[in-house]
Amino acid sequence: MSLTLTILFIVLQSLFALTKGQTCRNLPVYTPCSTNPNCGCLPFSSSNDQSGICAYLHLNASKLRMCSETNYYCDQPYTVCVHHPNISIDRPLCYPTGMATLDLCPLLDPISTVFPLPIIPVEEICFNVSWAKRGITVAGSNFSGTALDQLRGPTAILFDLKTNTLYISDNGNARIVTWQLDGKRGSIVAGDNGQGNRTDQLGWISDMLMDPKDGSLIICDAQNRRIIRWSLRAQEGKILIDKLYCTGLALDDQGLLYVAEHDNHRISRWILGENITNDQVVAGGNGKGNRLDQLYEPSAVFVDGNRTVYVADYSNDRIMKWTEGAKQGIIIGSLRVPRTVHLDQSGNIYSIDGYHSRVVRWTPKDVNSTVIIGAQQYTLSQATDLAFDQHGNVFVSNHGTGRIDKFDIDRSACP
Ligand SMILES: *[C@@H]1O[C@H](CO)[C@@H](O)[C@H](O)[C@H]1NC(C)=O
Ligand SMILES: *[C@@H]1O[C@H](CO)[C@@H](O)[C@H](O)[C@H]1NC(C)=O
Ligand SMILES: *[C@@H]1O[C@H](CO)[C@@H](O)[C@H](O)[C@H]1NC(C)=O
Ligand SMILES: *[C@@H]1O[C@H](CO)[C@@H](O)[C@H](O)[C@H]1NC(C)=O
Ligand SMILES: *[C@@H]1O[C@H](CO)[C@@H](O)[C@H](O)[C@H]1NC(C)=O
Ligand SMILES: *[C@@H]1O[C@H](CO)[C@@H](O)[C@H](O)[C@H]1NC(C)=O
Ligand SMILES: *[C@@H]1O[C@H](CO)[C@@H](O)[C@H](O)[C@H]1NC(C)=O
Ligand SMILES: *[C@@H]1O[C@H](CO)[C@@H](O)[C@H](O)[C@H]1NC(C)=O
Repeated sequence: MSLTLTILFIVLQSLFALTKGQTCRNLPVYTPCSTNPNCGCLPFSSSNDQSGICAYLHLNASKLRMCSETNYYCDQPYTVCVHHPNISIDRPLCYPTGMATLDLCPLLDPISTVFPLPIIPVEEICFNVSWAKRGITVAGSNFSGTALDQLRGPTAILFDLKTNTLYISDNGNARIVTWQLDGKRGSIVAGDNGQGNRTDQLGWISDMLMDPKDGSLIICDAQNRRIIRWSLRAQEGKILIDKLYCTGLALDDQGLLYVAEHDNHRISRWILGENITNDQVVAGGNGKGNRLDQLYEPSAVFVDGNRTVYVADYSNDRIMKWTEGAKQGIIIGSLRVPRTVHLDQSGNIYSIDGYHSRVVRWTPKDVNSTVIIGAQQYTLSQATDLAFDQHGNVFVSNHGTGRIDKFDIDRSACP
């Protein structure tokens, strides 16, 4: 087959199957990224940094359309808006994702794309802030589904400050997708091989986080009772912990992993290495119950710079705080079936009231929480997780509608 025919074949193939390709992170345009020397990094036009796709570079320019001038949008399906200065200096182009498949641009071996990244300053969130009453949908569409511009029953989300990218566990589709903030569709980074327990499949995901060391994802695959690591551009995950019903994950600043164990009513700590090793129980572990030294089906965990652990103590309807080495916890506050717990740089604690589907906050001065998002009914739909960008805008995952909404912060009342 001639090269043109081969390419045509791949393009056609990619129109009917969801493509899988590798992304580049923080690499300049045209950086080699594949064993195929005709492939290189093409930065997304929508991201401020250099993240993009690893794609075949030498397409016939006459086949490519320009992206929309206003919002870097491509209305052709299966294209992404990228910079390709040799073809068009002033306008970004809609590039077929079929040109970025692993068949065409196989992985470079050894992988050598981890670059040091600057630390992104996070803005303080003052006592008097508020958030927009209505959100803007930043991922997903009006109907949930399987297409790349849709989500189905999303649960955990995380926001990568380095690349301004949302990571979404698209649970109903058994995959994890990333979504640029002004993007119209997601890109698959893990799974998408049907629900199942093979290492290239995912089940029902309860939580995930990004290991800042290498950008890999650590995933609680609750349905399969396992925790897996999915490296950048990998085709499958590696099982870190097996036979554990995990509901929440956190990393401390030294890279220790904290795991909320649903069935064991405790938070355990693990040392990541070539082989993961169990360190100790850091909260609960005294059977199921509502005493201060107990937990009851914890659903999420957060750890701060002092290794203080915050727990969404789901079936006890409360948020707990355990300082390192403590024999019992302190009650931060009560709310119905809390689904997440998060602390910001200013010491404010956030959670989701799962029963009323709303986001609440305790400032360091508060005894009682304040509803910050979802005070009006139907603002959120089965909210399951939240994430912040560096300005304090909040993303909320709506399991019910299959959408991720962004609520802008309003600092006008801050001193
Ligand atoms: C690009 O495609 C156009 C239209 O199909 C064709 O006329 C032209 O010769 C092609 N150019 C190259 C360099 O292949
Ligand atoms: C881009 O154009 C320059 C100058 O013509 C050329 O040397 C280079 O190889 C081109 N790079 C790619 C990736 O097409
Ligand atoms: C989604 O719904 C909104 C409000 O009903 C409507 O304005 C918008 O056009 C819809 N979008 C799509 C892609 O159907
Ligand atoms: C994986 O799933 C298959 C089919 O449901 C089942 O037979 C098998 O026991 C499972 N394997 C593990 C390790 O759970
Ligand atoms: C990790 O486990 C493997 C298999 O059990 C073993 O061969 C290897 O030495 C272990 N590595 C370390 C650093 O303990
Ligand atoms: C850690 O504890 C010290 C002393 O209590 C406190 O000043 C500091 O703010 C705490 N740091 C975090 C990240 O909570
Ligand atoms: C907190 O809530 C309780 C119960 O609703 C109420 O009695 C108490 O006055 C509140 N405390 C503050 C400081 O608002
Ligand atoms: C900010 O909150 C404090 C404490 O409730 C209050 O005294 C102050 O008036 C508020 N400032 C503004 C600008 O609303």
